[in-house]
Amino acid sequence: PHLPPSLEGIRYDLWETTLRVACESRFELGVDTPGGGGGVGSEEWRERVRKLPILSIHPLLKSEVLLRRGHHVLAWILHFYIHTYPLHTPSILIPPSLTLPLLQISNELQLPPVLTYSDDVLYNWGLINPEGGVRKDNLRVLTSFTGTPSESHFYLTSARIELIGVRALEVMQSMLDELFVGDEIAVRRITGYLRELGEVIGEMEGELRGMGEGCDPKVFFEEIRPWFRGFDSIHPQRPWVFQGIDDIGIDSPPNPNPSPTQLSGPSAGQSSLIHALDIFLGVQHAEGEEEVLRKMRAYMPRHHRRFLGHLAESNRSLRGLVRGEGNEGNEMLIEAYNQAVGALRKLRDAHFGIVAKYIIVPAASAASAVNRSAANANAREGSRSRLKGTGGTDLARFLKSVRDDTREAVISSE
Ligand code: HEM
Ligand code: ALA
Repeated sequence: PHLPPSLEGIRYDLWETTLRVACESRFELGVDTPGGGGGVGSEEWRERVRKLPILSIHPLLKSEVLLRRGHHVLAWILHFYIHTYPLHTPSILIPPSLTLPLLQISNELQLPPVLTYSDDVLYNWGLINPEGGVRKDNLRVLTSFTGTPSESHFYLTSARIELIGVRALEVMQSMLDELFVGDEIAVRRITGYLRELGEVIGEMEGELRGMGEGCDPKVFFEEIRPWFRGFDSIHPQRPWVFQGIDDIGIDSPPNPNPSPTQLSGPSAGQSSLIHALDIFLGVQHAEGEEEVLRKMRAYMPRHHRRFLGHLAESNRSLRGLVRGEGNEGNEMLIEAYNQAVGALRKLRDAHFGIVAKYIIVPAASAASAVNRSAANANAREGSRSRLKGTGGTDLARFLKSVRDDTREAVISSE
């Protein structure tokens, strides 16, 4: 998966430069300041976005990687634009120069027109040493809101987990082949593969725990995370008006969905990796949580979404096999399966610990600071609303529930 470093030289230099200026300016989050919204220079920058020519996306259509870069650049510009916008305005007006190409590219890629996990992780890495290959220790971040080491570490932790996950996908693929055969030898092999899968998930957990080694919770909570917010995690909510939508058909391809409704912010819940593990291992989620996870799939690259659909169809039999349908009393198989499910549960436990450290604890201390000061209802509402995940979920309830569902997938051997 090679990313073009930029769209420069093929007439999209202006988009690239506009993003670079925002990254280098170190804007503040939307506050009403004399500098306008996001502090010094931010109003000039937003004016620059408004004045961009409305570029046709035609030259990008020939290449998936160029389209991805286009989505990356414009979605980042959108978040810079929205989160530096002055607070007192009743709505956020997103100019046609941004709306039109962003919606058209999103339509091509079947991604929502916001910053997604693909923009801040999957399409946001480059190599430190170009000769060094795609390795966990050779990755750097391309685009950052704050330019802090904490922000890079945050994205790269996910990217490294994705790299470890490649092995999980390979092992799952091998198991699918064996499931197709389904004889005694296949069962023995599947037992081995399940053990291996448990180990790989354990490695993913180790990498996740490494979040604490380079991402400072205070910097994350106060400086980085607010930039991710989507429409459903901003309080008080103001309409996002995508201007120029009526003209969208002029420049083909037309956009069949002129009013974007999928506007949640990025979240690792939009990574196909854990979804794939759930489907493969047959972890069943409660209806409400399943619905949330289904919605998150709309924010994944379309091939990932299709892959999950394929996995769901082709994988009816792993749990069936382990539960003994035609395979009575295979304790080793059950144990290996439970190890893999247990590893996934442990990963979710570790994740919950991270969420406590990076969101719940800082949110509680922000809330108590608000209560101590001459608190007004708006400010209190604001601090409560932080307990929404950037992906728009009621985070504590959602995450506890998906973790408990994982525990329940364990199969008893009696
Ligand atoms: C979901 C927070 C890092 C994997 C979520 C959610 C929150 C959250 C609040 C709920 C969904 C939403 O966004 O509304 C955090 C924080 C992190 C972090 C604060 C680091 C500071 C990671 C990493 C991974 C990950 C590195 C990689 C494995 C997931 C998954 C979900 C999720 C898979 C969906 C729920 C599930 O399937 O268990 N995260 N996350 N998170 N996160 Fe994270
Ligand atoms: N989804 C993560 C959060 O809510 C990034 O903070």
